[in-house]
Amino acid sequence: METQQITSFHACSAPIAYKSCDQIVFIQIVAVAVRKSRFIISLSLLSQDENGVVLSLGAEAQRVIVSARPFRLDIVEGRDVLMSLNSRGLLAFEHLRMRKDTFSYKVTSTVANEDEKEDGMWEETFKSHTDSKPNGPSAISLDFSLPGVEHVYGIPEHADTLRLKTTDNGDPYRLYNLDVFQYELYNPMALYGAVPVMLAHSAQRTTGIFWLNAAETWVDISSNTAGKTVFGKMLDYVQGSSETPQTDVRWISESGIIDVFLMLGPTAKDVFAQYASLTGTQSFPPLTAVGYHQCRWNYNDQEDVKAVDAGFDEHDIPYDFIWLDIEHTDGKRYFTWDPHKFASPKEMLQGIMDKKRKMVAIVDPHIKVDNNYKIHNEIRSRGYYIKNKDGGDYEGWCWPGSAGYPDFTREDMRAWWASMFAYDQYEGTMENLYTWNDMNEPSVFNGPEVTMHKDAMHGAWEHRDLHNIYGFYVQMATAEGLVQRSGGVERPFVLTRAFFAGSQRYGAVWTGDNAAEWDHLKISIPMCLSLGLVGISFCGADVGGFFKSPSAELLVRWYQTGAYQPFFRAHAHLDTPRREPWLFGPENTALIREAVRQRYTLLPYWYQQFYHAHRTGEPIMRPLWVEYPQDPATFALDDEFLIGRDLLVHPVTEEGSRGVTAYLPGKDEVWFDVHTFQKHNGAQNLYIPVTMSSIPVFQRGGSIIPRKLRVRRSSSCMEHDPYTLFVALNPQRTAEGELYEDDGHTFNYEKKEFLHRRLSFVNNALSSVNLAPDATFTTQSWIERIVLLGARKPSRVSMKTADGPENQLEFDYDSSTSVLTLRKPGMNAGADWTVNFE
Ligand code: GLC
Repeated sequence: METQQITSFHACSAPIAYKSCDQIVFIQIVAVAVRKSRFIISLSLLSQDENGVVLSLGAEAQRVIVSARPFRLDIVEGRDVLMSLNSRGLLAFEHLRMRKDTFSYKVTSTVANEDEKEDGMWEETFKSHTDSKPNGPSAISLDFSLPGVEHVYGIPEHADTLRLKTTDNGDPYRLYNLDVFQYELYNPMALYGAVPVMLAHSAQRTTGIFWLNAAETWVDISSNTAGKTVFGKMLDYVQGSSETPQTDVRWISESGIIDVFLMLGPTAKDVFAQYASLTGTQSFPPLTAVGYHQCRWNYNDQEDVKAVDAGFDEHDIPYDFIWLDIEHTDGKRYFTWDPHKFASPKEMLQGIMDKKRKMVAIVDPHIKVDNNYKIHNEIRSRGYYIKNKDGGDYEGWCWPGSAGYPDFTREDMRAWWASMFAYDQYEGTMENLYTWNDMNEPSVFNGPEVTMHKDAMHGAWEHRDLHNIYGFYVQMATAEGLVQRSGGVERPFVLTRAFFAGSQRYGAVWTGDNAAEWDHLKISIPMCLSLGLVGISFCGADVGGFFKSPSAELLVRWYQTGAYQPFFRAHAHLDTPRREPWLFGPENTALIREAVRQRYTLLPYWYQQFYHAHRTGEPIMRPLWVEYPQDPATFALDDEFLIGRDLLVHPVTEEGSRGVTAYLPGKDEVWFDVHTFQKHNGAQNLYIPVTMSSIPVFQRGGSIIPRKLRVRRSSSCMEHDPYTLFVALNPQRTAEGELYEDDGHTFNYEKKEFLHRRLSFVNNALSSVNLAPDATFTTQSWIERIVLLGARKPSRVSMKTADGPENQLEFDYDSSTSVLTLRKPGMNAGADWTVNFE
């Protein structure tokens, strides 16, 4: 077997193994190395005495030490403990029981008969709801200690800071998918989605914990440095009283088994790869989905859709998707159209298609109970509804009134649901119609906490056991439906509100019902960053805010921010005044136009980032510490972020702001303002005056970013347009970048039908070489301009392609900005070429 560093562990329990709390509880601990290939190595026993056992994974690798009394597991590398499990002895496991009056098997000696009569053990009430708890008080828990760690991240979804807070003085972070009305900010309360993955970071290492459990989960965090100022820590150090920083985490789930994956890094990118090997990477969306989306609850009828579509043309603002919310259906019966307002959907879709644009229609997973509704009748007669505790079909209230909830955890149900997206089933649809899954927590208006009763049944499983994964399966089945309707050819696009670990494989996620307030704009940054860290790159917040009405200033700032977040969609509540981009006066229309156009010029870079995320699992929108892991100044930044490695964005999120202070990382880096081309050194806080015209965005010196500057109606209209390459030189006068292209919508890229080139500037020459020589895609796009930032004035510039003669090129040089521009070098974007600067 190949010897290599072990990079992740998987520890797993089984209820059957739990005989007594002071005996060894893990029946399986395996190490998984994922760097090169995936294989499983069993631990071997090194030594054993009355205190514990030492297990080993081979010569140079980590050791795992398991002590029996009390149970404790340390993962050790060299002399360092990377992580300890149960070091605080908080392992807890409530075995499954049956009620005394039926049958009881007691497997622990510590549980007395009397305990089983405790209040709430077999039944609990919450407001008017009763949870029947047929297995009694189930729960599991385990603690993890992270020596050397002061910063932990992840476990979305919460409207909170990027760096997670300690929870000693309040509630733990809660993971329980809920439809929350007007959620509060900076709060550990549960929201729509749950990814039980935490990343721990220090200047030395990044690690991760993946607690694979879809039941209601709570995460407690404490730290021995919490609340200490930097000065306090220094004082400790000087006085020699400082202890090693440590963060302690405790996970608690209501049911299930302990099934935990430990990802040992050592770098953040290693953790992303390790996690991706377990749950998959971001799906590669159609290029068009990376453009701008115009949504509102609701566009009223076909005329309205037509008028909004025309408004974008009239005001010269590009967009790719117009969205229809629940009112487009016939009485909230999904897969149908309102017969009066949307009487000829195909005609409408054709009109949109003629403009090379697309549409999304909502399909929620609650199904109107109505004997005249085909979808309901089919689900009921096939027995696909979730059942209530008494065995009848579970019913709850949602948008259509009384509704059933299909059991998406069933494979046969998902296959049937997918088949409903076929063009001959979902009438009035065409290939430019995509799907939005909402309310899939699931939302049950009259259920406990607006969700499903925990004792509802999915076959033999209680809803309690799998609540957090329900929404994942809804999106999975829907995405499968969109793929199938095209015969497996087209990439799907599905937006979901609820999610779980792995949802990245099925489309995009948004942060739900935010509000038109500055703080909501601000929090969209850490919320999307937290999602990216756990694999879900395709994330965005409702631009403008869902509830309430934004001022023109807030709306403009939100467009400017949203244009630099992966999923870029404006949305608004039914009761809010209309807010299409041209309704705030010509000046604001121009500002919004410019923000959206900026997005479109960058689509080649965005698309390449999606391709990269799809291949590697790395986040697209990423915290600065991912790229500058040793710089503590980056560890808790909530107000700026990177897109890929090369673009740094500092949105303006304060009303009336006249300037922002951005942190430019990297002592060896330089950063170029993308608007002025001004160069700034890294490792500094830089005050940047701002006007309403734009937000600060910087390109890293040492990078090459392809753009398409001829912005048109939609991304599809720009398909064959030429590229402009922005080459930003670093102090060593080098730069590197990539150019990726494919047909933008099919799975043919998997058959090597793409073009992937490495662009590099070195030794005064810029060249393009093929990164995928066996790939077959050819492009009509050519290079129409090259802009060198931080350039010296050359005396001569010449260009050479593989089979052509050397050509001298015209250039402009602006000595005040050190920008060199080559106009119309003219080579095909897929060709080998070199430009020499002498
Ligand atoms: C939910 C969604 C919102 C949508 C509304 C009506 O509140 O979060 O985006 O507009 O339902 O479907």
